Amino acid sequence: MEQYIIKGGRELSGEIKVKGAKNHALKVLATSVLVNGETKISNMPQIGDIKRMLLILEKLGAGIHEKPERNELKISTDGIDKIEIDKKLGNSLRASIILTGPMLSRFNEVILPHPGGCMIGKRPIDLFIKGFKALGAEVKEYKNSYHFKAKKLCGCYYIFPKISVTGTETLMMAAVLAQGKTILKNAAQEPEISALAEHLNNCGAKIKGAGTSVIIIDGVKKLNAKNTTIIPDRIEAGTFVVMGLLTNSKIKISDCDPSHLENFLLMIKNVGGKLEIGKNFIKTLPNSKFTNTDIITHEYPGFPTDLQAPFTLLMTQAKGASLIHESIFEGRLFFIDKLNQMGANIIMCDPHRVIVNGPTKFFGKNVDSPDLRAGMTLLLAGLIAEETTTIGNVCQIERGYENIVKRLKKLGAEIYAK
Ligand code: UD1
Repeated sequence: MEQYIIKGGRELSGEIKVKGAKNHALKVLATSVLVNGETKISNMPQIGDIKRMLLILEKLGAGIHEKPERNELKISTDGIDKIEIDKKLGNSLRASIILTGPMLSRFNEVILPHPGGCMIGKRPIDLFIKGFKALGAEVKEYKNSYHFKAKKLCGCYYIFPKISVTGTETLMMAAVLAQGKTILKNAAQEPEISALAEHLNNCGAKIKGAGTSVIIIDGVKKLNAKNTTIIPDRIEAGTFVVMGLLTNSKIKISDCDPSHLENFLLMIKNVGGKLEIGKNFIKTLPNSKFTNTDIITHEYPGFPTDLQAPFTLLMTQAKGASLIHESIFEGRLFFIDKLNQMGANIIMCDPHRVIVNGPTKFFGKNVDSPDLRAGMTLLLAGLIAEETTTIGNVCQIERGYENIVKRLKKLGAEIYAK
């Protein structure tokens, strides 16, 4: 298995372009099951999770033509002739669950292996099951799989007992071709959801309110494929902001949408991070002095849980104690023992809260990447550590960050894959 070797202490400079958002691209791929004809997708990130999703769709019978050098692909699902999602692939990708909405809508039936992915908590699927039942589906639960079946999906009124991003997207996709009106309340409001609804509406769907907590969908008879472009990855952009500040570097993070990162950028400024923000770029400026702060992760537009790990690392360089409260996932703070091995002084209060005491110096160590965001955070820690850091299990990082070694080398980082 590949490792990354990093020699820390280098200042970075130059420009890094943000790639297409993983969490939008995965859902746009799922929409291809709902539409007639071929969908051409631009700004498609070349990352592990997308490769897995494409394999799942290919195994179901989809036709895919990729132009990876141009981050472009065409997909047609007209040839899908199976209703069972591949067990091994489904197990390796939590987002495989979003296919259930479109599959159920088109074939009235789908079999889903228990979805896997990042080990950041229990990750139940009860909200999906309740939602499908509300739309009129029957659900059979087996030890390792779920069988969803419906004579016909019918519009419904559904209040999410808890806010779920993929839950909102999956039910929205299940409802676009259902008979009648669906009202989803307490829906998630992430920018990827608005972008997904915009694409579906271009294809002929009637969705109102996406991006707010109430989404109203009037079912239509059919959807036709339209070309679309993946929005910039706000999590990648935020991660690069932390990278620039931590390494005391002037870097330009381009092709991003700072309006999707308002809460995060506000917190960065509050702790002393010097930034210049344009319409589609963010520049990090050197000589920032960081002060401690407390954060609590929250659904959008709150502080994103996906940026909690890099922010926790940033707080190791701030003077004083910071309380980091991860409110969404119960397994998303288990990387702090690795940061402590590298020199951090972080105390775990309970699975949801840690106190970071800073500033502390970092030293290179051999560490394994536990999950996507934590793995990338360890990479950032390696960039500020004295001597050499070796990161194992980097397939976790490559699930969500395209060509990261090459792109960071271009900024002057001393990093290579072995
Ligand atoms: C999505 C993102 C992920 C991000 C997360 C929160 C994708 C592919 N992934 O994940 O990057 O970290 O949103 O912003 O878009 N829950 C239940 N029952 C369910 C579903 C969820 O209890 O049926 C709980 C989860 O355990 C978690 C919370 O709801 O505690 C929020 O999870 P959710 O928004 O569903 O996360 P994902 O959509 O899986």
